[in-house]
Amino acid sequence: MKIKTAVFPAAGLGTRFLPATKAQPKEMLPLVDKPMIQYVIEEAQKSGIEHVIIITGRGKNSIEDHFDMSYELERNLEEKGKTELLELVQSVSNMITISYVRQKEALGLGHAILCAKHLVGNEPFAVFLGDDIVDADVPCMAQMMKAWDKHQCSIIAVEQVSMEHVSSYGVIAGEKLEDRLYKISDMVEKPKREDAPSDLAIIGRYILTPEIFDILEKTQKGAGGEIQLTDGLRTLLKTQNFYGYQFEGNRYDTGSKMGFLKATVEFALKREDLGPEFREYLKTLDL
Ligand code: UTP
Repeated sequence: MKIKTAVFPAAGLGTRFLPATKAQPKEMLPLVDKPMIQYVIEEAQKSGIEHVIIITGRGKNSIEDHFDMSYELERNLEEKGKTELLELVQSVSNMITISYVRQKEALGLGHAILCAKHLVGNEPFAVFLGDDIVDADVPCMAQMMKAWDKHQCSIIAVEQVSMEHVSSYGVIAGEKLEDRLYKISDMVEKPKREDAPSDLAIIGRYILTPEIFDILEKTQKGAGGEIQLTDGLRTLLKTQNFYGYQFEGNRYDTGSKMGFLKATVEFALKREDLGPEFREYLKTLDL
């Protein structure tokens, strides 16, 4: 079975970016000139996803507007003969089929995913978290889909991180099965360095089987009074094979200010129109 649907939870409050996120969603903050959410939706599209379900909340309307047609803007660009910009704007609204579900209260990531149950149905699906942006020759989710085609079980993306940083992540315990693929036996949320079962950190890309919905429905509130996805995943892995896939590519944690800054600089340097001049400018800084 192919994975055609993706869930994109975007109902969090984005407190780490306040005050920028007081009246605007974190997902709409731009890296250079493109909102963060668009990078991730492009990854979904390039990986063969046909339908994205975005979980939104109050104050997130600009996400819907961004992926919608903008008649006034399009007419204006057309009248002024700005064809390239017109095509750019139109390509965003024509990208992919998107549905929106409102999570009325931010009750946690597990709860946000559960909000998509009625639209996903009884099929495996992908989950993308907008805080992780992966720059890779083959999109991260496309790499995971290959592993899915072979094994047809739940898969989460993992990244090797230094032991100094393990306590910022969910970490897997597992056994290596083949190149880049691990069979997960347990996962621990933000372990102390000495308690971490490995240096393989979970990042925001998942392929999940629909059984997760029944599990999340029964999952009690955990850390922070929220329904935690990790708690649901730990239950799922007791009954099913569950794999970790070590993807190829560079990941930026754009949910943190430092990750956001790193991605901004590196993406700008890679741009043909901006990179050369920006590189020269950086060289002039007295660091
Ligand atoms: P985070 O824990 O990063 O929270 O959520 P956040 O609100 O986005 O940002 P900070 O930490 O306050 O700065 C991880 C992902 O889960 C979504 C968020 O939108 C983010 O994509 N989420 C979280 C929901 O959709 N609903 C929730 O109730 C919680």
